[in-house]
Amino acid sequence: MGLSIVNLSKAFAAPVLRSISLDIQCGEIRGLVGENGAGKSTLLNILAGNLDADGGEIILDDRPYRPSSVRQALDAGVALATQELSTIETLTAAENLSLSKFPSRLGLIDKAQQDKEARSLLSTVGLTQLSPATPAAELSLAEQQLLEIARASWHGTHLLMLDEPTAALSREQADLIHELIKAKAAQGVVVIYVSHRLEDLKSVCQTISVLRDGEMILTRACGDLTIPDMIEAMAGRFARREKRARPSLLPTPMLRISDITTKALPHPISLEINAGEIVGLAGLAGAGRTELIKAIMGIDARTSGTCERVTDGGAVTLSTPADAVAAGIGYVPEDRKMSGIFAGHGVAFNMSLPALRAHRWIPGSWVYRRASEVRNLLNIRSAGLDQPIDQLSGGNQQKVILGRWLMEETPVLLLDEPGRGVDVAAKTDIFDEIARLAGAGAAVMIASSEMDELTMTCDRIVVMSGGRVAGEFNGPDWDEQAIMTAAFSAHVGGNAGSNDTRELGTGQ
Ligand SMILES: Nc1ncnc2c1ncn2[C@@H]1O[C@H](COP(=O)(O)OP(=O)(O)O)[C@@H](O)[C@H]1O
Ligand SMILES: [Mg+2]
Repeated sequence: MGLSIVNLSKAFAAPVLRSISLDIQCGEIRGLVGENGAGKSTLLNILAGNLDADGGEIILDDRPYRPSSVRQALDAGVALATQELSTIETLTAAENLSLSKFPSRLGLIDKAQQDKEARSLLSTVGLTQLSPATPAAELSLAEQQLLEIARASWHGTHLLMLDEPTAALSREQADLIHELIKAKAAQGVVVIYVSHRLEDLKSVCQTISVLRDGEMILTRACGDLTIPDMIEAMAGRFARREKRARPSLLPTPMLRISDITTKALPHPISLEINAGEIVGLAGLAGAGRTELIKAIMGIDARTSGTCERVTDGGAVTLSTPADAVAAGIGYVPEDRKMSGIFAGHGVAFNMSLPALRAHRWIPGSWVYRRASEVRNLLNIRSAGLDQPIDQLSGGNQQKVILGRWLMEETPVLLLDEPGRGVDVAAKTDIFDEIARLAGAGAAVMIASSEMDELTMTCDRIVVMSGGRVAGEFNGPDWDEQAIMTAAFSAHVGGNAGSNDTRELGTGQ
């Protein structure tokens, strides 16, 4: 009985799971940890019927198990609560809960029964005050996450999986979820719990497995595994590159950030970025990377501190995003679909936006000539310069948004996850161009959750944890263990940071 995985493998462009084997008993709570990109979500998605494995065997309660859809997995009593919430905003809380398990009477939905079940489910995750009729669109991020967990725990009668479920939750809410999964385990359910909160895992799980780069590195009883052990097992060998020749020996600051705070980042942060330097922003999900970039840009209102663009002629204080752009700061947002592209408009138009804003008039011939040059420089694949940007692949859209800041030389670039959702070739083009810009004297900051992107590209890496700067490291000889330890620092060792700071990224 229980879950047995034998030689499971999966590759996308590259291998993501390399012949993984794993045995979990009924009633066991297994913690699963690993760096970003280690393959945790891929493993869970295979078990949940979202993805098909390339090879290997899964045995659930003594029977071969190979779900070809989420429906089949749910029917087998296997459910996953994901990070990317699957709440449907146009439905009510109750309807969301019963999405795939409508209590029906003669094929009709039994509303009264649905309501009753919803209420009892909501109470298991502490949402006792919430009416099942509440539209999901009115729920906070934490409430949506709790709803997701309630739904998974309802369906997960044999195997319940939680993929970083507590990132958006308060301490009390997380504790409640821990009680819930302990109760499920007590009923004999196999539980797999993925979390970056290593202390939590130690207190909730019986055993912990560490994945690194698609390989199962170790599985051990919690009592026999310290947190430094876990971090050491997780830390791989980061990719590195040869150090670039520096344009000058004396660092020349281009952007000076002094003691800034925002609602989302209550602890003052100071930082300088120099000409010709690429600074990486590393951290776990919710560490505050995006929030820091938005604070620098002035998109999130600052509650104290200053940002200055430093030039030969002196320093310009930046307050609003318009100030930042006028001072030569380019910004590529993380969510290009939401705040990056102007859908329906052509490639050239999308590229020329900052220039159009900066100048009172601009010759069309200049726009097209420059756009064409930038298109070649970045290998942008489009049917001409007027093809609507939304018709391009994700990688090419990302290139257009970066290309915006190449139309005129932009001396400072703030890039939030420039490699996300981009294929390998496009990623290479983008990072090569970033390196070229820095080589020509630009000051660049890159936030990324892929350590390799940073260690390959950056001169310096600033690690954030729990909304604070937790460490600063210089390349190209990166101390992997120290970087990982800094990234986890807000989540281990009774550090107040993990308890009193509300997790970031809630948009509040
Ligand atoms: N649908 C996909 N297509 C291509 N690559 C993917 C896909 N999903 C995940 N990957 C890649 O697989 C690797 C493992 O990702 P993931 O399982 O999400 O890691 P984790 O959950 O441990 O952070 C990453 O390098 C990621 O980029
Ligand atoms: Mg994941």
